[in-house]
Amino acid sequence: MSGPQCIAIDGPAGSGKSTVGEQLARQLGYLYVDTGAMYRAVAWLALHKDVDINDGPALGELAQQANIVISHPHINDGRQYTVQVDGRDITWDIRDANVTRSVSAVSSHPEVRKLLITQQQAMAREGQVVMVGRDIGAVVLPDAELKIYLTASLAERARRRHAELVERAGGNADNVPSAEVLMADIERRDAIDHDNMQPAIDAIVIETDYLTVPQVLATLAPYVEDTV
Ligand code: DC
Repeated sequence: MSGPQCIAIDGPAGSGKSTVGEQLARQLGYLYVDTGAMYRAVAWLALHKDVDINDGPALGELAQQANIVISHPHINDGRQYTVQVDGRDITWDIRDANVTRSVSAVSSHPEVRKLLITQQQAMAREGQVVMVGRDIGAVVLPDAELKIYLTASLAERARRRHAELVERAGGNADNVPSAEVLMADIERRDAIDHDNMQPAIDAIVIETDYLTVPQVLATLAPYVEDTV
């Protein structure tokens, strides 16, 4: 018997969807697609090419002309995948504070969304995927066999983001914004992302505040098995 073709995982920033999505994809041998990286790539391009992040038509044009590629080469620097725009590796650049600050505005434009959603749907047609984002179950892959929505409180999401940034800085918290600053930033992004954050009505909702990643995966296991 074959497994589900598509698993959609949605949730707000810091809900654990990327970590859970990647591990689930690895367990199942599915392709892992983080759609947030695609929106971040367009935001990076806009900053790089000085395109106004409030100009939807110009951003749509920019995204249309760009060749955004997500691939999975084995590069041992902590990356989940490689993001390239027009051949340039921007995997780490798209995690910059500037990109993080701008990406909600960039992703709010219908011109950008329409284009990226079409690309995401094409990726899912290529084979079995675990696709992670905000609107995957409701909009991008409404026929996904399994839809998961992960949530966590604002404070917990900020705590996780802080821990992640400290780890990326080699354990040194000196230049990492405090959890309070990160919380304000996530709250601001939540407010802008709100319109595009669409939990599917048939999604399994999991509150992850008190769960580790292995516990979230264990909670999901029966649903994954049921879908097979
Ligand atoms: O998950 P993330 O923080 O990398 O996502 C970056 C931004 O992209 C976030 O502000 C919301 C947006 N996004 C979106 O609108 N739709 C998606 N499917 C994925 C991300």
